[in-house]
Amino acid sequence: MKILVLTGSPHKNGTTSFLADEFCEGAEQSGHEVIRIDTAKLKINPCLGCNHCRRNEGKCIHEYDDMIEIILHLLTADAVVLVSPLYYFGLTAQLKTVIDRFYSVNSLLRESPKKLYLISAGADKDEWAMDGVRAHYETLCKYLNWKEGGTLLAYGLATREDAENSEYKVWANRLGMGVS
Ligand SMILES: Cc1cc2nc3c(=O)[nH]c(=O)nc-3n(C[C@H](O)[C@H](O)[C@H](O)COP(=O)(O)O)c2cc1C
Repeated sequence: MKILVLTGSPHKNGTTSFLADEFCEGAEQSGHEVIRIDTAKLKINPCLGCNHCRRNEGKCIHEYDDMIEIILHLLTADAVVLVSPLYYFGLTAQLKTVIDRFYSVNSLLRESPKKLYLISAGADKDEWAMDGVRAHYETLCKYLNWKEGGTLLAYGLATREDAENSEYKVWANRLGMGVS
């Protein structure tokens, strides 16, 4: 299977980058092709809602930014993994910007069966802290007609060291290994 991993943290070596590494290692061990794109490093403009894409066969007004690299992999991936730290109980703006840009290929994505995974981590330990990202994930699956592959919601991780010293490391690896 081809797995597209989209990370959304500005921290190159932070908490969620570490969990993404573990996931990718597990998925590669299971023989999958893994494409990882760290979206915060790219130049991706926000969707303007201008509907240029609707009038121009899916061509976005921002056709020369880095989103094209993601779209090409997105259209051919069997599974997509969203990886984000919790920012005000949601995904980071960097990752949300990428998701909004799905708009130009919206119909293609809804007709293309995929599995969606979510890995998120936050400093908070409250049981409700992940309610927002979980609901967003479930709603995205419903709308896009994609299957829920699985989630890793990691509580109480303020730093990479917290993640390294936690059981979430093993769970991220297992989630990757179990992609099918
Ligand atoms: C702008 C900002 C907003 C944050 N919002 C939350 C939050 O709502 N809930 C939470 O538990 N942690 C929050 N955090 C903490 C991060 O999610 C946490 O430190 C995480 O481990 C960072 O992951 P990263 O190193 O992959 O970026 C926030 C951090 C920042 C910088």
